[in-house]
Amino acid sequence: MLVFDQVGYYYRRDQEVLKDVSFAIEKGEFISIVGGNGSGKSTLAKLMNGLLPAKKGSVRLGEKTMSDPKQARGIRQAVGLVFQNPEDQFITTNVTDEIIFGLENIAVPANEIGERVRSALQAVGLESYANSAPHELSGGQKQRAAVAAVIAMQPQFIVFDEATSMLDPEGRSELIKLMRDFHQQGITVVQITHHMDEVLASRRVLLLDQGTLVFDGSPDSFFRETPLEQYGLEQPFAVRIGQLLGWTGETAADWKGRVASQWSIG
Ligand SMILES: Nc1ncnc2c1ncn2[C@@H]1O[C@H](COP(=O)(O)OP(=O)(O)OP(=O)(O)O)[C@@H](O)[C@H]1O
Ligand SMILES: [Mg+2]
Repeated sequence: MLVFDQVGYYYRRDQEVLKDVSFAIEKGEFISIVGGNGSGKSTLAKLMNGLLPAKKGSVRLGEKTMSDPKQARGIRQAVGLVFQNPEDQFITTNVTDEIIFGLENIAVPANEIGERVRSALQAVGLESYANSAPHELSGGQKQRAAVAAVIAMQPQFIVFDEATSMLDPEGRSELIKLMRDFHQQGITVVQITHHMDEVLASRRVLLLDQGTLVFDGSPDSFFRETPLEQYGLEQPFAVRIGQLLGWTGETAADWKGRVASQWSIG
């Protein structure tokens, strides 16, 4: 379980970016984090794996706490991050080296590396691009290479910080499919997104507003009860139609299914 206990963060002392944020994520969850621009989502993501240290409160993973540097290393390894811009994430000169770089960083024994690289490439469908340089890959492929580097570290959690937002529809749906695959394999998935239809795929939503956690619950109650416009967000297409048609017993996800089957959209 990943626990945020009254966590606060600021970049500049006079501007709090996260305020008293508390929640716990159980192993195996699929969570969306949403909120307007500048609400603190990316900062939260970086606190989840210790890329940034909490200024107040504590971040813990199981028995490990971020405030102990030795334990923090374990957390960093257990929580993988995938960012928005695939261009920013490539450090080395080809896909295989990119994966190896991460593994060497966490001191994976040399005799395990080959197998980890092979299975990570397979997980993201980039086997035939093992030796490709970044400029030889599409945006979606680069993003999948970044995901391969994360998955090779065998994380318990993966946080996708608007990882689909720079991809075309095909790249986006491939990445979403990967998130679902990983979730099915038991990895806890946290997706930060501006796409409200992506939220319908998760089981739980956290809403940040100016650094404060203002909602934590199911997508269904989120879309029914939260004044989304107030937070700079829109209802998903399927939910808007459901509301127009006066939905009653169905959940938001049911509505998505009904709308999708009616008009053959995903
Ligand atoms: N490196 C930094 N130095 C100073 N301030 C920062 C830094 N990074 C973010 N901030 C500020 O912290 C606040 C939260 O930023 P953050 O990137 O976490 O928001 P976000 O919810 O991810 O926004 P977006 O939807 O635009 O990605 C913003 O006011 C931002 O300007
Ligand atoms: Mg962000």
